[in-house]
Amino acid sequence: MKPVLTVKIGSLVLPNPVGVASGCFGYGQEYAELIDLDSLGALYTKAVTLQPRAGNPPPRLVETPQGLINSIGLANPGLTAFISDKLPALARLRCPVIVNVAGSTQDEYAAVVEGIEEALATRPAAPRGGVDGFEINVSCPNVDHGGMSFGTDPSTVEHLTASLRKRTSLPLIVKLSPNVTDIAEIARAAEAGGADALSCINTLVGMSIDTERCSPYLPRGTGGLSGPAIRPIGVACVWKVAKAVSIPVIGLGGIRCGRDAIEYLLAGASAVQVGTALFADPRIPDLVLSSIVEWMEAKSVASVGDIRMMLRI
Ligand SMILES: Cc1cc2nc3c(=O)[nH]c(=O)nc-3n(C[C@H](O)[C@H](O)[C@H](O)COP(=O)(O)O)c2cc1C
Repeated sequence: MKPVLTVKIGSLVLPNPVGVASGCFGYGQEYAELIDLDSLGALYTKAVTLQPRAGNPPPRLVETPQGLINSIGLANPGLTAFISDKLPALARLRCPVIVNVAGSTQDEYAAVVEGIEEALATRPAAPRGGVDGFEINVSCPNVDHGGMSFGTDPSTVEHLTASLRKRTSLPLIVKLSPNVTDIAEIARAAEAGGADALSCINTLVGMSIDTERCSPYLPRGTGGLSGPAIRPIGVACVWKVAKAVSIPVIGLGGIRCGRDAIEYLLAGASAVQVGTALFADPRIPDLVLSSIVEWMEAKSVASVGDIRMMLRI
């Protein structure tokens, strides 16, 4: 019997557990020539802010052993251009689309969610709206205002989540930062605010210095470390968070192959996302999914949701 791959996130059913992470897949069309977008478990867009953002000055990326440090600074076209230029193509996709939302103030997050809700309500009869949920980025380490500073304070997380909850009935996923003392406390705050799920984790603050120039590679000094180096941290965060809340947890950080994803699922994740690995090979989500299926068949696991119950500790 084929294993059941669907995953429920609030009212949304993902066709399979493997999605692509925000900021590593643009708004989808960038990859449309390379892979079948409809085979994705979910497409998490690049962050959308109220106003367009040019992002941080280059260089914005530096490679490290087993990782990548980025300082993109939430570069994006802004809400209006997202609705006019990106949403129509997203609406033609069959895979679930989750819009990643960021802002410098709580009002800005609210305005983005409201703006997208309004656009969905007024769109002419498209096959579907083009947005199936929101991922709230309270964990970006590369901006001066908002971003990670929101995600490190439990009362701010609860307040922001509750305020967005009132503005949408679509699934609300809060994306957590690992740059905190107790991630479980932040997770509980998001759940108390009405989140349907949590994404876990965003990047860790990292720094790399050019010893010839005696200067950091990134103009801001620090950036967000992603890739294989952070996987054990991501798995530990998912394990702690999954024990602390009763809503689904979506695991990410350093996933490159099926085994990496299965670690997250065993730790308690209901689904996963592939980020940095996409830059090396956009086919990785598909390979990760086939490898999860193979593993489930070999172990006679009936459903993805059963994997977390298999962890022996
Ligand atoms: C270049 C780049 C841009 C990113 N942009 C965003 C973003 O806009 N919003 C967000 O929530 N996360 C963003 N992230 C974080 C990723 O979605 C992910 O949480 C992180 O990279 C860990 O996963 P990975 O190791 O598989 O890349 C970005 C990551 C990278 C590498």
